[in-house]
Order: sequence, then structure tokens, then C-alpha cells
Amino acid sequence: MHIEMRNIYKAFGTNQVLAGVDFDLASGEVHALMGENGAGKSTMMNVLTGLHPKDQGSIFIDGTETSFSNPKEAEQNGITFIHQELNIWPDMTVLENLFIGKEIKTSIGLLNTNKMKALAKSQFDRLAVSIPLDKEAGSCSVGEQQMIEIAKALMTDAKVIIMDEPTAALTEREIAKLFEVISSLKKEGVSIVYISHRMEEIFAICDRITVMRDGKTVDTKPIPETNFDEVVKKMVGRELTDRYPKRNPQTGETIFEVKGLTKSGVFRDVSFSVRAGEIVGISGLMGAGRTEIMRAIFGLDSLDSGEIWLNGSKVTIKAPSKAVESGIGFITENRKEEGLILDFSIKENMVLPTLASFAPKGIINEKNQSDFVDMLIKRLTVKTESAETAVGNLSGGNQQKVVIAKWVGIGPKVLILDEPTRGVDVGAKREIYELMNELTSRGVAIIMVSSELPEVLGMSDRILVIHEGKITGELPMGQATQEKIMTLATGGQ
Ligand SMILES: Nc1ncnc2c1ncn2[C@@H]1O[C@H](COP(=O)(O)OP(=O)(O)OP(=O)(O)O)[C@@H](O)[C@H]1O
Ligand SMILES: [Mg+2]
Repeated sequence: MHIEMRNIYKAFGTNQVLAGVDFDLASGEVHALMGENGAGKSTMMNVLTGLHPKDQGSIFIDGTETSFSNPKEAEQNGITFIHQELNIWPDMTVLENLFIGKEIKTSIGLLNTNKMKALAKSQFDRLAVSIPLDKEAGSCSVGEQQMIEIAKALMTDAKVIIMDEPTAALTEREIAKLFEVISSLKKEGVSIVYISHRMEEIFAICDRITVMRDGKTVDTKPIPETNFDEVVKKMVGRELTDRYPKRNPQTGETIFEVKGLTKSGVFRDVSFSVRAGEIVGISGLMGAGRTEIMRAIFGLDSLDSGEIWLNGSKVTIKAPSKAVESGIGFITENRKEEGLILDFSIKENMVLPTLASFAPKGIINEKNQSDFVDMLIKRLTVKTESAETAVGNLSGGNQQKVVIAKWVGIGPKVLILDEPTRGVDVGAKREIYELMNELTSRGVAIIMVSSELPEVLGMSDRILVIHEGKITGELPMGQATQEKIMTLATGGQ
């Protein structure tokens, strides 16, 4: 299938999001789409698949002008979209999610569960996924949910598959599997639109790249004719040196310590400490228990045993409110479920954990609140028209910045960051790293869970590796390498 989008315009209210983009997708190619957060990538694909009507421009499919009125129609015509914000129904099982709206029935109209199970199983095998089909989807990790979405898309027999940040929550092994699947799809003549902020991936699997900036196409080129630096420059409109800012850690006393944290079947005997001003990176494979440990520390899940010490005293954290009160902030990996209230404005979300500090006598000081929010928006370069915009209308990466802003605002002593730069563009990543450096220079202790090895290596003063719920090793900065981390993360010595 050959798709051509010509001179597309789309505005939301006064916000001109697409301002004359062109996009050309050849049959059987893997086409990268890159651009800063808010550049309009997801919107362009939503226009193609009929979620949003375009204001101007034309779309040609195999030479015929076409316009879909909704995503279902696009899918029936062979175009499937795996969204950046996953569309999982948490209360339904994995199997129900895979077949929602497309249930297979027997000749007498009953659900043909056996057939659906067999089909699901074959897709999971293809992706080397082993999630039980009767598991509740909401209890699956973000990575597992992503794999469910990919399997679901593969079952549609699409001619074009749009993947919006598909690997953000996947492990190295799952990514490798996905890439194998992509190359076999390509051989079958399926075209892939591959949206990602991970440059390494783009250069590994894509044939061509289109870079967007401010709702316009900057350039389309074959991958062999371009390079990292050129792409970054086209994205941000300037040169960007050094992906990680220099760290000058000035660590103080140990301010946070956990001893023997155990939750049966999830993690056991987890002990570590963090000093003031220190960044401790937590590495490990997806499902190793990293997020679960952080959730328990923050009071979201219960512990079977273990102690948490803050500033030399033992604390009991039974609920997140207690954690916040004690000065612990938590930026979660799943912004949709835990981090943000999508219907609320940017401002409302940002001041949520801090509300009390703006209302010393029960009266909210609007002016202080607005100044504070404006400062955070500027600092983190959140791309928005106004602080009153609903967070659900922001681009994926800009939502992540709001999550971070919200927790920075409470002035935490200990800040837990779980995949802090997931889906964030190169320029904004750097802003987040600089913010981390600034926080640690003020004595904040940071615990950073990250699946991106270069990020863990680039930003941590010390790295703890988790494997199957246990700490399998500790590597100080300077001794850590990708190989050493991977060895420990897979249970090797
Ligand atoms: N439904 C909507 N209503 C209002 N504004 C929207 C809506 N969807 C997107 N926007 C705005 O359109 C702009 C582009 O967003 P889009 O999601 O296309 O960016 P993106 O390039 O995919 O970014 P990211 O890398 O962060 O995912 C943003 O400024 C966003 O706020
Ligand atoms: Mg997007």
C-alpha cells in the first residue's frame, strides 16, 4: 500500500498543530517519524486514520484520494495504529482485550473461546510473549500491555502498521523480538510507520526518516544518507552537544535507607541506602520487580516485612499521602494510571501534591500558584498554549514533563523516578537531566529506575541491579558498563 499525505493542516482551537505536512509511505518500507514533543507526529497519524478530521490537504492511498471517517474504517482498509497511550481495558482479561469488538463466534452465535485462544497463542508465540490469556489486563506491567497491543495489531492483517513509541516500555530482548517481527512484516510487503525518540532504533531498522518540526515536514531522507547529528539538528533547529550533562556529585549523609524489604513472590530482602545529593540508578529487566519495590516504598502496595528509614528515623508508610508528608516524591512509569488526571488542566495537575502549601489558611493564593506553574512550564519547556489546557490534550512527552513538574513542586527530600524520560525528546531529556542535577545540588536524594542503559550509565553515581526481586549487584560510577549491568540483570555473576 502506498500512502501520500499532502499539505495537511489541522488546528485544535487556535493551536495550529499541523501546518502543511507532507508524508509519503512506500509499500514494504519502515519509515521513521521523528520530531520534538508536540511536533505533531501522533496528530498526523490520527488524521490519517480518521480520528481527527483534517482542515485542509489531501490523502492518497494507492493513487486514490481517500478520507476515513474513523479509525475502525481505516483498520478495515488495512491501516492499524498502535497508540502511544495504550488502550488497554484494565478490568478485562488479556484475551478479551485482544478480541474486543472482533470477537469470534461459533455458528450458533456463542463466543468461540478456543479459536480465539489458539489465535492469540500463535501471535504471542510469534512475539515470544508468555502472558497468561486469562490474566486481568490491568494487572499486567506496562511492557506486557504494550506487547498485548502489538499482538492485537498483528491480528488485523494490516497492510500498514503505525507504531507510536512501541518500545518505550520493552526490554532489550522484547525489542529484539519486535524488530524480527518488523523485518518479517516488511518482507510480506507491510509498511510500518515507526515513531520513536530512540535514535539507535531508528538507525537500526528504518529505511527512511521524516523529521517534523512545529507541524511541518522538515525533511525526508533515506537512512543511509543521514546521521544522528543531522537528525537532531533538524528536530530541534540547532546543534545539541552531549546528551548527558556533566555531574559533579556532592554527596552528604545517608538520608534514605531501606532494610530487608520483602513482599512474598515479588521481591525479597532488598536493602540499600541513598545519600543526600546522590543519584542511585536502578537497573534490571522488565518484570524484575523494580517498580514493585518503589511502589511499596511509596505506600502504594503493602510490604510483608522490612524497614524504611528517613533522616535516621524509622518511618511507617502505609499510604502515598504519608510518603508525600515525609518528603518522598514518586514519578511513576505509568502516567495514565497513576501520574496524571487527564481531564484536569496542567495547572491543576501540577499543584495537586502541593495544594496545601498554597493554602496556608485554607485560602488558595491564586497568584503564587500561577507564578509557580508558569515557572515550571517554562523550566521544563512544556509545549502548550496555556496552563489551563487539559493534560489529556498534550502530546505524550509533554504529559511526562507535567508529571515531573508536579513532584518537583513538593520540594521532596527523596525523589523516586521510574522511567523519567520515557517518550521524551532529546532536547527535553537533557532538560530533565539538568533538573535532576539541580535537585541533587540542593541535597535531594534521587532514586532513578530506568530501562535505558545509556541513561543509567550517563546519570547515576551508583547503580543497583535487580534480578528476580533481588539486588544482584552494585556498581559505582566508573566501574559500570552495559555488559556488567546486563550480566547482573540476567542473573549472571
Ligand atoms: N485532542 C487534542 N486537543 C487539543 N490539542 C491537541 C489534541 N491532540 C494534540 N493536541 C496538541 O497538538 C500538538 C501536537 O501533539 P502531538 O501529540 O501530535 O505531538 P507528538 O509529535 O506526537 O509529540 P510526542 O513526541 O510528545 O508524542 C500538541 O501541542 C498538543 O497539545
Ligand atoms: Mg505523540
